Amino acid sequence: MQTAEIRRRFLDHFEKAGHTVVPSAPLLFDDPNLLFVNAGMVPFKPYFLGQETPPWRTATSVQKCVRTLDIEEVGKTTRHGTFFQMNGNFSFGDYFKEGAITHAWGLITGSVDDGGFGIDPDKIWVTVLHTDQEAREIWKRVAGLPDERIQDRGLLDNYWHMGVPGPGGPCSEIYVDRGPEFGPEGGPVVDEDRFLEIWNLVFMQEEITNVRAKDQFDVLGELPNKNIDTGMGLERVAYLLQGKHNLYEIDEVFPVIEKAAEVSGRTYGRDHTDDVRFRVIADHVRSGLMLMGDGVTPGNEARGYVLRRLLRRAVRSMRLLGFEDPALPLLLPVSLERMKASYPELEADFPRIEQIAYAEEHAFRQTLGKGTQIFESAAVAIKDEGGTSLSGDQAFALHDTYGFPIDLTLEMASEQGLSVDEDGFRSLMAEQRSRAKADAKAKKGSHADTTVYRAALDANGPTDWQAYTALTTESRVVALIGGGSSVPAIGAGTIGEVVLDRTPFYAESGGQNADAGHLVWDGGRAEVLDVQRPVRGLVVHQVRVLEGELTLDRTLEAAVDPEWRLGARQAHSGTHVVHAALREVLGPTALQSGSYNRPGYLRLDYGWSGPLSPGQIHDVEEVSNRALRADLPVTAQIMSLPEARAWGALALFGETYGEDVRVVEIGGPWSRELCGGTHVEHSSQIGTIVITSDGSVGAGHRRVEALTGIEGFQYLAKERDLVRQLTDVLKTQPEDVPGRVQDLMERLKASEKAAEKIKAAQLMGAAGDIAQGAKDVGGVAYVGHHAAGAGGGDVRTIALDIRKRLADRPAVVVVIGDAGDKPAAVVALNQGAQDRGLSANDLIKVVGQQIGGKGGGKADVAQGGGSDVTGIPAALAAVEAALA
Ligand code: ALA
Repeated sequence: MQTAEIRRRFLDHFEKAGHTVVPSAPLLFDDPNLLFVNAGMVPFKPYFLGQETPPWRTATSVQKCVRTLDIEEVGKTTRHGTFFQMNGNFSFGDYFKEGAITHAWGLITGSVDDGGFGIDPDKIWVTVLHTDQEAREIWKRVAGLPDERIQDRGLLDNYWHMGVPGPGGPCSEIYVDRGPEFGPEGGPVVDEDRFLEIWNLVFMQEEITNVRAKDQFDVLGELPNKNIDTGMGLERVAYLLQGKHNLYEIDEVFPVIEKAAEVSGRTYGRDHTDDVRFRVIADHVRSGLMLMGDGVTPGNEARGYVLRRLLRRAVRSMRLLGFEDPALPLLLPVSLERMKASYPELEADFPRIEQIAYAEEHAFRQTLGKGTQIFESAAVAIKDEGGTSLSGDQAFALHDTYGFPIDLTLEMASEQGLSVDEDGFRSLMAEQRSRAKADAKAKKGSHADTTVYRAALDANGPTDWQAYTALTTESRVVALIGGGSSVPAIGAGTIGEVVLDRTPFYAESGGQNADAGHLVWDGGRAEVLDVQRPVRGLVVHQVRVLEGELTLDRTLEAAVDPEWRLGARQAHSGTHVVHAALREVLGPTALQSGSYNRPGYLRLDYGWSGPLSPGQIHDVEEVSNRALRADLPVTAQIMSLPEARAWGALALFGETYGEDVRVVEIGGPWSRELCGGTHVEHSSQIGTIVITSDGSVGAGHRRVEALTGIEGFQYLAKERDLVRQLTDVLKTQPEDVPGRVQDLMERLKASEKAAEKIKAAQLMGAAGDIAQGAKDVGGVAYVGHHAAGAGGGDVRTIALDIRKRLADRPAVVVVIGDAGDKPAAVVALNQGAQDRGLSANDLIKVVGQQIGGKGGGKADVAQGGGSDVTGIPAALAAVEAALA
């Protein structure tokens, strides 16, 4: 049975039983504790925690999940992959244990003809928490399971919680016996390979706190609602029903292995080392596809880094299989073919996905080359010094800077007959990991601080948020926070946080900066510095009290600075316009990957490799401004997520389904984006869009920056002033400025050349006079000349010229120039002087000693340089002394 079919049957089974089918949330879920969604219940967390009222009593989903704790272990064993799908059914205070067990049993043992999975009931084992005899009794009654196939286990295995304070409960796990060839008898408590866990039913019935370990926590009390959360590993069921041994061999994964085998010429199943590589490739290509599909792009931090590692490991594994050409263009389409049955949106998105992936592979191939060079020179250096081992530092640098996994370094080292200090490498890795863990902890720590906001939300309900309709509201102070805890007042000159019952302030989100403005009350005033939503539904203003004291329960006026807001609306609508213009000019794959805007300024990151030509930038600006001139209506509508998708609204990442979304349109379909921001009403109100830069922000990503509204105008006005200054100075018309500057440059060059010629002629002219001043020193004509302002070339020309003029007697000529405050010396001797046993090469050394330098040459001519121009007279005298 194909994986997509198993998925469909699961959803059908629960839909028939009255559950609402909820689509998978994106892998990037808005949860600061999680890098990626890692369990089916994550999107339902607020309902389990009682923070929100669920819109349905029962639901079912197949949730995309990514777990990345042990990327290095993937493929070595066949138990875990990085991407998997979790089938789940959920009850929020509807059915409980008996319902969950009845539903599960019906589906797995139901006949294939009736929509079930047709698993032989005699092969099924379950575990229950040892104190939960109620579950045991239900299994016996509902499923007719004999006591010996219901095994008791402790908290460690059979109590499920999220690792943080919140709901939890005993669970019951369902196992299938794969047969004696997979391991010993004795049920799951003896062997979890032979007895394969396929489904976990969690009976969420209590609230826990003080979580110290998986099996160490305190129970606060019973939950008002008894909930059900279940998780079935779709890939596990698939390999069970497809008669395969592991998840790498199922229909959604194996074709990638086959393709890798075909192009590399290696065979899967023959050699353990190669098999690990094949599995890494198949797993990582699929995970990469799914992550990119949900909007992750490769980067150096957090989610982007995970994706980068996955793609690079896949590429490198292909190399280790002997395949050196770009591999992703061959593998990614195979993965798409397999995944699109369940995720059709991947196909529509594929042009964007493949562009990102191939750019990443290209970038890695370049570092791989550089890393290989670094490795090779390190290897040569080690051997030269008689060493036999690459240090831990070197292996770590290769890993950290060039993305070389240790096994690549090991393999390359062994080819060179070298070993690697693996212990040193591993201890550096461990250090890095503990740093990363400390960072993660620090992050969690700050998240834990939301208690005070949660309390404010619980006590007062969500903020009545009027940013779309009002600039001022009459509001009441419902909570004040200082230093992370609730306070009764904030005094003058102090910064603190304020929660109001209602507010017109926009809290920073969706790339739009928070509003600026003031809170004003009888006898006091505070400036709003920042506005955030630390927990859903609660708007928190960070303020500095300027006058008076801000106290709880006070009524005040909350007023957004109208100028600021106008600028913010222009910039945010401008961002949408630039995005649409980019896509019009470059094509639909130029998709936004991030943005930021504040009054007057916007920037937008988008997927694109290679720089834009000046013509393309010009076109984007032109298309943007034409859209302003067209005065397109800007409208916002609330609709369901599927409707928004059907409309082709962009940026559907990280949204919560179950909740309606807001789609902002500019000019109907021209620009359709999911957006919670504040916008102008007509595109012409943006005023102007002036692109100020377009540059790269990493492989496959560019950033365009632009100014809007009055700031755009001011930028252009400043440029016009510059041009005016130029036309004044150049006494010409603006359009003639470039030609005039070009002309001036050429004339300047020509003048410089002419000046050089004149200077040379002058020097030569002077040579005659200098030669005339030759002194007789011991029967040799000696000229020692300091040529002020002359450089090396001129000095040589003068020296040779003087020598020529003294051809009738033995002559020694020394000329030293000082251009650029650097002495340059030439010593030239004629044949007569040389016949007397003198050598230019000797005399230049004498010069060098005085000017702090050295030189060399032959007996007839030698030249040298130095560092000390003050030594020139001494040098000339020294040569004279030497001749005497
Ligand atoms: N939430 C449970 C799990 O992830 C079902 O195993």
